[in-house]
Amino acid sequence: MALLIKNGTIVTAGEQYVGDIYCESETITRIGRNLEAPPNATVVDATGKYVFPGFIDTHVHVYLPFMGTFAKDDYITASKAALVGGTTTLIEMVCQGRNSSPLKDGFQFWMEQAIGKSACDFTFHQSVTRFDAQVEAELKEIVQAGVSSFKVFLAYKGAFGITDEELYHTLRLAKQLGVIVTAHCENEELVLQLQKKLLSEGKIGPEWHYWSRPPRVEAEGVHHLMTFAELTGAHTYIVHTSCKEALDEAMAARARGVNVWVETLIQYLVLDKSYAELPNFEGAKYVMSPPLRDKSNQEVFWNALRQRMVSTVATDHAPFDFKGQKEMGRDDFTKIPNGIPSLEDRVNLLYTYGVLEGKIDLQTFVDVASTQAAKLFGLFPRKGTIAPGSDADLVVYDPNYRGTISAKTHHINLDYNAFEGWEIKGRPSVVTVRGEVAVRDGQFVGTLGRGQFIKREPTHF
Ligand code: URP
Ligand code: ZN
Ligand code: ZN
Repeated sequence: MALLIKNGTIVTAGEQYVGDIYCESETITRIGRNLEAPPNATVVDATGKYVFPGFIDTHVHVYLPFMGTFAKDDYITASKAALVGGTTTLIEMVCQGRNSSPLKDGFQFWMEQAIGKSACDFTFHQSVTRFDAQVEAELKEIVQAGVSSFKVFLAYKGAFGITDEELYHTLRLAKQLGVIVTAHCENEELVLQLQKKLLSEGKIGPEWHYWSRPPRVEAEGVHHLMTFAELTGAHTYIVHTSCKEALDEAMAARARGVNVWVETLIQYLVLDKSYAELPNFEGAKYVMSPPLRDKSNQEVFWNALRQRMVSTVATDHAPFDFKGQKEMGRDDFTKIPNGIPSLEDRVNLLYTYGVLEGKIDLQTFVDVASTQAAKLFGLFPRKGTIAPGSDADLVVYDPNYRGTISAKTHHINLDYNAFEGWEIKGRPSVVTVRGEVAVRDGQFVGTLGRGQFIKREPTHF
């Protein structure tokens, strides 16, 4: 199938120019002016619109057994939502429990959730929730199968969290294999003790979640990981970084030569802790870990994106309904399933509240929402840019669109939207996945099951 996108303003992480993009057999083959297409080609007029490389979300949960329940999406709803929002590749966390054995069954299980259902391309970070000789052998097989990133949790004691001994051996193995280790950094013991203390004082509402995980708890987690990374030489990536204290720890480590990259989330850039303080348990919709922070952190993170101290903006999409799921924690904030879903809205929010408000320029927007992800996780230049030879994953973006986010119209499987009523100035008008149009004017028109597992080679030696 041939595709010609005509006369768009092509924006990559490095440049911006007007041109045509011609794609054949899922791949971009030519970029130029006044390109011609055969009569059977799909032609998209992008006059007055931007053409971005397909966006990549580095941190997504689709299938997630967590806190006594399951995240609401599956690959049908999640991949549709991702594509409508301009995300053409997502990286999901394989999050098998600490006691599940063998580990590679978890990997197979997560793969089965996606294959045959997903409309967008996908890959995985393989969680290491335990470490022993058997796990080591299985991890080597999983890397052979095309997964070149691990995930560790320094939080969620007893569920996903690992011991220091296991952390050390995971990082050593990762270094040996050239695999990057993504990490949730919070001191799990401090969280547990602070939760107990708050509950014993009768502090049970969602607003107290923050106080069980204050910035220093996250900073300690980052400091801890950085010490282990320094002494093993492993390449590390700190997921969902929320506050200045944690960022400072990562940057101090980077300054002394530690291999570390930092992810933040769209939620931390546009929401703050006052949302989790909303009355009548509404705050539960805004409970996630690490928690939403003081508003002053937002400027720190916009600046950190401009300076590339922070490399990526992801979502940590983890959808739990308000009714029946968030409500599990009505009398105890520690039982509120953690997560603020944003898979569908990340790109539009980053454009509207980042680019249009002058916080970041268009090149930074593309870099932190697509190109850096591709580079860090072994997808570049297949994904993350617009160039001959790259996959024809393209987002024709209409900057004149005006709309409002709402649970009534979103594609995720959730009974609320944390950004209900927020104005959006711009949205994808056409989204292609390897040359096939998957979205037109906010409507999914793609093919479920066409999404591919993208194999990745280790690059972090
Ligand atoms: O609150 C969050 N972040 N929920 C998803 C699980 C995780 O820690 O990534
Ligand atoms: Zn996490
Ligand atoms: Zn997560």
